[in-house]
Amino acid sequence: MENQKFSGKRILVTGGAGFIGSHVVDACIASGYDVVVVDNLSSGRTENINPAARFYQLDIRSDDLDAVFRQENPDFVNHHAAQISVPDSVRDPKFDADVNVIGFLNLMECAVRHGVKKTIFISSGGAIYGEADTYPTPETYPPQPLSPYAITKLIAEHYLQFYHHQYGMDYTVLRYANVYGPRQIPKGEAGVVAIFIENLLAGRPSVINAYPDEPRGMERDYCFVGDIARANILAMNSSNLVADVFNIGTGIATRTADLYDMIYHAHAAAGIDKRMNTDHDPALKHPPRNPARKGDLSRSCLDVAKAHAILGWNPSLSLNEGIRKTLA
Ligand SMILES: NC(=O)c1ccc[n+]([C@@H]2O[C@H](COP(=O)([O-])OP(=O)(O)OC[C@H]3O[C@@H](n4cnc5c(N)ncnc54)[C@H](O)[C@@H]3O)[C@@H](O)[C@H]2O)c1
Repeated sequence: MENQKFSGKRILVTGGAGFIGSHVVDACIASGYDVVVVDNLSSGRTENINPAARFYQLDIRSDDLDAVFRQENPDFVNHHAAQISVPDSVRDPKFDADVNVIGFLNLMECAVRHGVKKTIFISSGGAIYGEADTYPTPETYPPQPLSPYAITKLIAEHYLQFYHHQYGMDYTVLRYANVYGPRQIPKGEAGVVAIFIENLLAGRPSVINAYPDEPRGMERDYCFVGDIARANILAMNSSNLVADVFNIGTGIATRTADLYDMIYHAHAAAGIDKRMNTDHDPALKHPPRNPARKGDLSRSCLDVAKAHAILGWNPSLSLNEGIRKTLA
């Protein structure tokens, strides 16, 4: 049973008011964990926070973080708070590093001072491998980060090795693919799913960002947030994992235009707005193209065999099922 080993243990989840973090909080509570959430609400929302969690509205860079650790004494840290946007990291690499490196170090120093046993760190398999020449890409592929966001995620992974070596703090890195599902905001890595859904619900046309040689857009590995939350529980419950890295995705690549078509057809089939006949609006049915944004990779798709073999994790939902669940 997943939830028996550490039942009753306390976990501090940063970013627990955000899209993915709030699903992880829900899964932790359902698995018997006592949950503390730290979030500055910069993009997170109080409505997302499970009422069974204790909430501290705080920046991870704040000196007050130590007092939260003193008060709560968590056994685990699960670190989801971050500057999450690749284009924003290109525009403002200093801010990206401030949150994703300095904020992370502030958190780790508190974790060490207060005897945290294990940290689950959320990295990005969708970003750190760069334009890999092996697809799907395994964890053993040498990272080639091509954006400040990817660089700071990889830096944090290196610091975790240091904290493990120096202080014996265990860690599991989860390198997510592109995550989508309920509560998603348009800004993050798989924000395109939320953007397409919001546009269709509002009857607004979308655009597809594409490199000139691939008009159907970029290839991404889309993973449903419920499956992601389950991977976090498995990683926390596996006490034999002391310093390990896992890709969490589906191993299936989907082009942006194909994703749009799936959402378009799921939306039409759901008959969400019967007044709107999307077939009559060519821009809704065949969205125009925009150039790719700075930092956008043309392809990313993760090999998840290791998570299957060691964590016993598998993605349970197909993209079509996940889209239908998200629309619902
Ligand atoms: N969405 C994806 O596809 C994806 C893919 C790979 C990795 N990730 C990683 O997953 C994590 C969660 O991303 P998300 O998509 O749920 O985004 P999100 O913006 O919904 O969640 C991030 C949360 O962190 C909080 N936060 C941001 N800066 C903070 C700070 N300085 N102090 C305290 N709280 C702060 C925000 O308010 C928000 O609640 C991030 O680390 C992100 O890099 C996401």
